[in-house]
Amino acid sequence: MRVLVTGGAGYIGSHTCVALCEHDFEPIVFDNFCNSSPEAVRRVESIVGRRIPVIEGDMRDREALLDVLERHAIEAVVHFAALKAVGESLSCPLEYFDNNITGTITLLQAMQAKAVHRLVFSSSATVYGGAETIPATEDSPLSVTNPYGRTKLVMEQLIADVCAADAGFAAMILRYFNPVGAHPSGQMGEDPKGIPNNLMPYIAQVAVGRRDKLRIFGNDWPTPDGTGIRDFIHVMDLAHAHVAALRGLPRQAGATMLNIGTGKGTSVLELVRAFEMASGRNVPFEFVGRRPGDIAELWADPSLAQEVLGWRAEYDIERMCEDTWRWQSAYPDGYA
Ligand code: NAD
Ligand code: UFG
Repeated sequence: MRVLVTGGAGYIGSHTCVALCEHDFEPIVFDNFCNSSPEAVRRVESIVGRRIPVIEGDMRDREALLDVLERHAIEAVVHFAALKAVGESLSCPLEYFDNNITGTITLLQAMQAKAVHRLVFSSSATVYGGAETIPATEDSPLSVTNPYGRTKLVMEQLIADVCAADAGFAAMILRYFNPVGAHPSGQMGEDPKGIPNNLMPYIAQVAVGRRDKLRIFGNDWPTPDGTGIRDFIHVMDLAHAHVAALRGLPRQAGATMLNIGTGKGTSVLELVRAFEMASGRNVPFEFVGRRPGDIAELWADPSLAQEVLGWRAEYDIERMCEDTWRWQSAYPDGYA
C-alpha cells in the first residue's frame, strides 16, 4: 500500500517510515522541513535499504497535495504534519490554527477530490486537558488548556465530521501519550530545535553535556515522589501502532479514537534515575516551581487499541532510555 506520510521527516514520522517499510508499505514523505531535516529521511533510507520519495511542500498548498496523491497513486494517508510546541502556541495562536487546522482541511479536501478515504491521524493525550479520570479512556471528558491542544481537538472533530458525512471515509485517530526513545540502531532519534520543551530530550542533552542541569518543574505534586507522572511510550512502539492502524482501517467505519500509551506511569525522578543507569552518566537537576498548565499525573488505558488493532506497547522505560542514549551519544548535535 502506498502511504502518504505528512510530516514524515519529523521525529515520529521518520520512525514510522522505518516501520512502514519493514511491513511492506511504501511511504511517500511530504514535509516542509519547518521542524525537521531531510537528513532524517536519508537515515530511514539507509536503515531500510530503499529509496523513499520525498516531496518538499506545505500542507496548506492544495495543488501540491492533489499532485502527490495522484502522481504516487496514494491509497492512505498518515497525517503527522503539525506545529506542536505548547508554549509557542500561546504566543502565536494564529500560526498554530493556520498551520494545523488549515493544513488538515486542505488535506481532507484533497483526499476527497482524489477519492483517498483512509486516514491515520496524530492526536495527543493533550485532549484530556486536566485529566480528571486516570487512567484516561477514550470516553474521558475532553478539554484543552492551550491553542496547540485546541488545534488537536478541532482536527479530531473535523475528521470525525468528514467520516460522518461520507460513509466511505475511515480514520484512526491515535492519541499519543508521551513519545520518547529512538530507533535501536542509534542512527535516528529526536532532534528538537533550540531548547527542548520535553523531558526526555532535555535529560539526554544534560547527560551528553550540551546543558548543565535539568530543571524539574515541581516536587510538591500529589504523587509518591512529588514529581509529575506520565505515560512514556517508545517511539518504535508508536510507529508499530501506525502499521496496525493502517491494517485495521479497511475493517473500520467512521472515525475511531484510540489511546496509544503503555498504561504505566513513570515519575520525572524515576525517568532521571533510569536514564542515569542506562547512560552511566550523572544527570544533575534542581527543583524549580511548577510549569504553568502542567498536571500532576496522566497515563493511558490502552485496552481499546489492543482490542481494535491487536497492538500493545512492548518496550519498557529502561529500553526507552538505552535507545535514546545510543542516539544522543552517537550524535550529540542531532542531525546537524
Ligand atoms: P515533529 O515536529 O518532529 O514533526 C512534525 C513534522 O511536520 C516536521 O517534520 C515538520 O517539518 C512538519 N510540518 C509541520 N507543519 C507542516 C506544514 N504546514 N507542511 C508540511 N510539513 C509540516 O513532531 P513529532 O513529535 O514527530 O510529532 C508528530 C505529530 O504527533 C504532530 O502532529 C504532533 O502534534 C503529534 N504529537 C506529538 C507528541 C510528542 O510529544 N512528540 C505527542 C502527541 C502528539
Ligand atoms: N518536565 C520537567 N522539566 C523539563 C521538562 C519537563 O520537569 O525540562 C516535567 C513536566 O513538568 C512534566 C513531565 O516532565 O511533569 C513531562 O513533561 P513533557 O513536557 O515532556 O510532557 P507533557 O506531558 O507536559 O506534554 C507532552 C507534549 C504535549 C502532549 C502531551 C501528551 O509536550 O504536546 O505530552 O500527553 F500533548
